[in-house]
Amino acid sequence: MERQLKARAAWTSASVLGVAGLGYGIFRWIRRRGSAARSADAVELLRQEHEKVRDLFERFEKVANPVERQSIARETLETLNIHNALEEELFMPALRRVLNNDSEINRALAQHQQENPLIAELQTLEAGDPPFEAKYQALTQVVRAHFRDEEAGLLAAAEKADIHARRLGTRMAWRRKELKSKLLRPERVV
Ligand SMILES: [Fe+2]
Repeated sequence: MERQLKARAAWTSASVLGVAGLGYGIFRWIRRRGSAARSADAVELLRQEHEKVRDLFERFEKVANPVERQSIARETLETLNIHNALEEELFMPALRRVLNNDSEINRALAQHQQENPLIAELQTLEAGDPPFEAKYQALTQVVRAHFRDEEAGLLAAAEKADIHARRLGTRMAWRRKELKSKLLRPERVV
């Protein structure tokens, strides 16, 4: 009888542990699905990148060490380069298809045309060089104003429009990965 009771107790605790384990597994699966869905929203992806670039600008302004400044600047320029490419290749065309008015898109594209040559030029310079410092400061101002503009205009309009934000965000996240891997392995760029 005592053996039977012990066996039953062992079975019961194993079942409780099994159910608890299963519950935890389901909880983690739901969390993973939740974060995947969040990261796949096109507008949120762009807003997150804006925040990242703003943080990098602030870090650059606070840091004095030249090596660190160079590394922050390089990361900022790469992020901006990819960010603008994602907007131009995928986000703006998708938005153009559903918006009645192109003026916000054209305005943002015109601002990119101001930024892109500056970004390309800065990528050939070293942080600490006098031309770099002045041009980088100019880029910082232009980009900060552009982000404010875009968030109030383009991104706000996209949130209200039917752009299939989640599907578009997934495509943008893939394209971002692809562009990043090309930057890491430039020999593969065709
Ligand atoms: Fe932009």
